[in-house]
Amino acid sequence: MIFKGKTIVLGVGASISAYKSADLCSKLAQEGATVYPIITESALKFVGAATFWGLSGQPVSTGVFEEAFGPSEIAHLRYGELADVIVIAPASADLLARLAGGFCDDMLSAVVVANPGKPVLIAPAMNTHMWQNPATQWNRRTLERRGYIFIEPGVGRLAEGIVGAGRLAEPAEIVEVIRETLFPRRDLEGKRVLVTAGPTREAIDPVRYITNRSSGKMGYAIAEAAAARGAYVTLVSGPTHLPQPAGIAEMYRVGSAANMAEAVFARSDAQDIIVACAAVADYAPTATALQKIKKSGDADFAIALTPTIDILKELGRRKRPGQILIGFAAETENIAANAEKKLHEKNLDLIVANDITKEGAGFDTDTNIVTLYQKQGEPVTLPIMSKRAVADAIWNKVNENLLMPNR
Ligand code: C5P
Repeated sequence: MIFKGKTIVLGVGASISAYKSADLCSKLAQEGATVYPIITESALKFVGAATFWGLSGQPVSTGVFEEAFGPSEIAHLRYGELADVIVIAPASADLLARLAGGFCDDMLSAVVVANPGKPVLIAPAMNTHMWQNPATQWNRRTLERRGYIFIEPGVGRLAEGIVGAGRLAEPAEIVEVIRETLFPRRDLEGKRVLVTAGPTREAIDPVRYITNRSSGKMGYAIAEAAAARGAYVTLVSGPTHLPQPAGIAEMYRVGSAANMAEAVFARSDAQDIIVACAAVADYAPTATALQKIKKSGDADFAIALTPTIDILKELGRRKRPGQILIGFAAETENIAANAEKKLHEKNLDLIVANDITKEGAGFDTDTNIVTLYQKQGEPVTLPIMSKRAVADAIWNKVNENLLMPNR
């Protein structure tokens, strides 16, 4: 009964996946929550109000003038007073647009707009094109800037028969995010955590550089999750388009692998935990041309490269007793063998491996599919989930297996 004494407003938008919301409603009620379902008019074409009424034992509303709590109560305000959290699952493209625009044309949107202090969790579900449409992504960013938390849709079989992004997150993942929101874990309180993230840029001349497809999303999610759990977080980031993650204490933006190494080594001794998530270039031009290299027409034109420093390997060499080192391994083949090899060679406590050829995993996606390897015990493969959920799963593992024995 993890949600005993908690009240959840459950908004249901129009999507074929609304039936999964009935399962979510049931799970939340079984865990002791008082659940108030609010179903949009269009969602009623997919699911019945009676289902949610039966599962929650509470009145169900749709229109803004409905009197869910009797004529003496202004329902959209009363919902807000009662709610500890507002969860919208599934959220359609249209619902996101209405929320981003501040519309109040039904009970759900009115509750969200009328109660700005409440945490709002949004789990979108829709056709891939609708999800990827710039308008939808714009609305999503607008809502994120307002502090609403998105539970990333997964990649999977959609109603129209194709496989793509837009599938509602599994109810179990949504329950987990609700739990995190209502009872934030502070299990990294007092710990110093350094995270590296993003790509590096190795200059060829003043105009060109060598880089890779890393977006920084995974590392930023790890940094943000650690800060939410109470850690003092230092983020050393290569060039990305991402804003500074919420709650982190220090952030350093660097360019090359050498810059990253310098920023990391200057701070590594003070850290309890270091997570190397950056996709550091393995080679850099041996010399950077001072002027732009001109087209010479030379058929054999080549750039001489020199290996960069392996930051993580060096951290492994310098590791002091009790310090925890976590690495990443983005692979396209032989994942298990490569991950195990790096775990040992770099003296790591945990390595997070992913097959970047899988849809929904790897670079510049919002989701990831990873396997966690430790020196002892069996590897653990996590299902596809948002990078933030992966980050929390990694921190759970660190707490269960690595921090506890050191305490
Ligand atoms: O050996 P490989 O580059 O595949 O190892 C990946 C891991 O090592 C990642 O955690 C990455 O951040 C780290 N690494 C590093 N410095 C490098 C290369 C990789 O810290 N020069």
